[in-house]
Amino acid sequence: MHLYNDNPTLLDVPHQQMKEEQQGEVFFKNYPQQVEDPSGKHFYIESYGCQMNFSDSEIVASILAEVGFKPTRSLELADLILVNTCSIREKAEETVRKRLRVFDAMKRQRPGTLVGVLGCMAERLKSKFLEEERLVDLVVGPDAYRDLPKLVATAEDGDKGINVFLSREETYADISPLRLDSNGVSAFISIMRGCDNMCSFCVVPFTRGRERSRDAFSILAEAQELYERGYKEVTLLGQNVDSYKWTNPETENLVNFAHLLEMVALVAPDLRVRFSTSHPKDITNEVLHTIAKYPNICKYIHLPVQSGNSNVLERMNRTYDREWYMERIEAVRQIIPECAISSDIIAGFCGETEEEHQDTLSMIEFADYSMSYMFFYSERPGTLAARKYPDDITLEVKKRRLQEIINLQSQVSYGHNQRDIGKVFEVLIEGDSRKSDQDFCGRNTQNKMIVFPKVAGYKPGQYINVLVKAASSATLIGEAAI
Ligand code: 5AD
Ligand code: SF4
Repeated sequence: MHLYNDNPTLLDVPHQQMKEEQQGEVFFKNYPQQVEDPSGKHFYIESYGCQMNFSDSEIVASILAEVGFKPTRSLELADLILVNTCSIREKAEETVRKRLRVFDAMKRQRPGTLVGVLGCMAERLKSKFLEEERLVDLVVGPDAYRDLPKLVATAEDGDKGINVFLSREETYADISPLRLDSNGVSAFISIMRGCDNMCSFCVVPFTRGRERSRDAFSILAEAQELYERGYKEVTLLGQNVDSYKWTNPETENLVNFAHLLEMVALVAPDLRVRFSTSHPKDITNEVLHTIAKYPNICKYIHLPVQSGNSNVLERMNRTYDREWYMERIEAVRQIIPECAISSDIIAGFCGETEEEHQDTLSMIEFADYSMSYMFFYSERPGTLAARKYPDDITLEVKKRRLQEIINLQSQVSYGHNQRDIGKVFEVLIEGDSRKSDQDFCGRNTQNKMIVFPKVAGYKPGQYINVLVKAASSATLIGEAAI
């Protein structure tokens, strides 16, 4: 999950998201860009957690816009305040609760303002939310967004609006997302929903329900439309994109993820295609060959390992072991030699011994990750692990192991980036760099952020060759090579 995009693509985009990083947690808040005239009804939406939530907020925005609500980034102007929430770790939930307190206070000063909780926390806590957080008016799960207009009307009449039904079919295929806070260059396309994997630590299968794939032609149409509007990069999103499968009801042809990637890559040679997240058990050589075949499919795979030890992986119910993962890394290297690989890593899972932890450290070196999202284990109520294994690693040990993982990853990332010095990369310009409006920032195909002085005549959305001159563990610094 990962949508947990927890997503690198967003991190450095200036003016797009406010990033709040707290001991390994990354949250994004997105604010619609245009503040329009104050007439009419307005909604304000904040998103936490993964890329999928971010993408869902754009579906919600579209549904609300259909019934006359306008987006605003001003809380003062908002008649409806929505929080799209994340349950992946306890800290994510705490952050949302704190935010709800702030909205509660605002509501008291401005009776009539509605506050709604969307997404994973809504699904996990259901009506408990209405008991615990009395000032919440709406509780809407990830598969119930079409019901929002009705639920808002119910809340406007003074009742509570709740819908947390999970669907086996809903993909919002026909809804054209309202791009919130877009840089006009890069957009997400949700290709599937839910997850059937049941990793033992993960709450997602309970909050987002069963896996289902979206109609391939609606995905293609969305990519085409974005390209026609000037977008140059799409990221195909799903909890486990490699298990995408959709059968064309007319021809009975099966479209798998490799086919879908190819279809989207063929939209235009200058439309970059990214995807997230891949599961090591499902990523096939067919997918790797498709990535290798098309220059516009980015040479970057987010392939979360979670742990480098086979016993821990078994307890995590990841359904692959250390050797399988290493073989997949070797296959990536062989088929797409220039591909960068990143990971998600959990420190201190139930019963993890020091030796098992060492296997995670050695995996970071073996896989030579360009970057990783690193967390310590946070037990989630109702998950397989919570039912089966005691959360027996002390917080102190979890934090120490996490720190060791972070330190090593930062060395490995530094080495990875240092090797890029002297190379020229094609960079898609995303906008001004965070630190200076004299510099542009953009990414290369390996998803590395490159900062370089602006060049006359170039603007966001264009490609430019950049020579890398220096590098930190997080960023490449270069200058245009034109
Ligand atoms: N505790 C810590 N990290 C978790 N993740 C998922 N569930 C948990 C949990 N209970 C991490 C995994 C996943 C990423 C999105 O979040 O690494 O890939
Ligand atoms: Fe990802 Fe596993 Fe959670 Fe599914 S169950 S969202 S694959 S971590």
